[in-house]
Amino acid sequence: MNVMMRDRNDIRRSCFSRVPALTLLSLLVLAGCGREQSALNVAGRDAAAISLLFWVMLVGAVLLWLMVNGAFLYVSRFAPGRFDERHGRRLLIGGGIVLPTVVLTALLVWGLSLLPDSRTPGDGLVVRVTGEQWWWRVEYWPEGATEPVVSANEIRLPVGERTEFRLLADKVIHSFWIPALGGKMDMFPGRETTFTLLPDKPGTYRGQCAEFCGASHAWMAFVAVAMEPEEFDAWLQAQAEDAAPPADDAARRGQAVFRDEGCGACHTVRGTDAVGQVGPDLTHIGSRLSLGAGRARVTLDDLATWVAHTDALKPEVRMPSYDLGEDELRDLAHYLKGLR
Ligand code: CUA
Repeated sequence: MNVMMRDRNDIRRSCFSRVPALTLLSLLVLAGCGREQSALNVAGRDAAAISLLFWVMLVGAVLLWLMVNGAFLYVSRFAPGRFDERHGRRLLIGGGIVLPTVVLTALLVWGLSLLPDSRTPGDGLVVRVTGEQWWWRVEYWPEGATEPVVSANEIRLPVGERTEFRLLADKVIHSFWIPALGGKMDMFPGRETTFTLLPDKPGTYRGQCAEFCGASHAWMAFVAVAMEPEEFDAWLQAQAEDAAPPADDAARRGQAVFRDEGCGACHTVRGTDAVGQVGPDLTHIGSRLSLGAGRARVTLDDLATWVAHTDALKPEVRMPSYDLGEDELRDLAHYLKGLR
């Protein structure tokens, strides 16, 4: 075996020895594509267009890859020396200029034709979302409403209706994205951006800020729920109500802690004297599906942990951690959980 053959075999062996590692790595990466936050888990008209574009481009790219590598393999392995420079020039013009021009032009035209859907006007409901550091201020404006239903960190939408989003940001740029429902849209301070989404499958999905916005960018998520229209209307009506009064002694003690610690300076609990606008509206926090913009769950334990260790759960967030006794924390958590 001459030196060149040995080298070639070494290269082949080292390439193949990496295959299991690469496969494992790709599987790990793919395992990260959870269903509730996957653009391929299509639950909306707009996501369907994006998903179709993805698959067409993937299949096209694989076919082109096979063609190029097949041609390469053919001329180097099976027909070395069969082609002269004239063939090469023809291949360069055909495969290097004509083919990409045709393919990319077709893709561009088709891709542009997919765009207008997201510019379609909404069917009536307007949801105004403001990106804060690091949470979402949400206002629902049903058609003809004179004042909004205020919520936070959760987006609920009626299935089969196109909802218009009006997006803003407080201090830095964020990006609003519910992969299962459609594309993302940047949120800017002082400049409103709009787009629409049409969910067509009821379900619970995950949204995520898609633009780096500071220390806790990765913790800026939210739950998106697509509901049947009647269910959505009932939900919105319930959200418009004031907060339920504390139901028992523990909740009353918790409300006193809330008041004494000055929580109402930053948070609103409608129907009480807490009218702060700095942090998320807590009027119905007990019925939400996540706490701290997708950071934790709305359980007594998580509520207490959140209040006591806010900065550990969400670095650099404006809300300070509160040094409360165990009983106070438990009562406060109980009060908040009861705000349904
Ligand atoms: Cu907000 Cu990233």
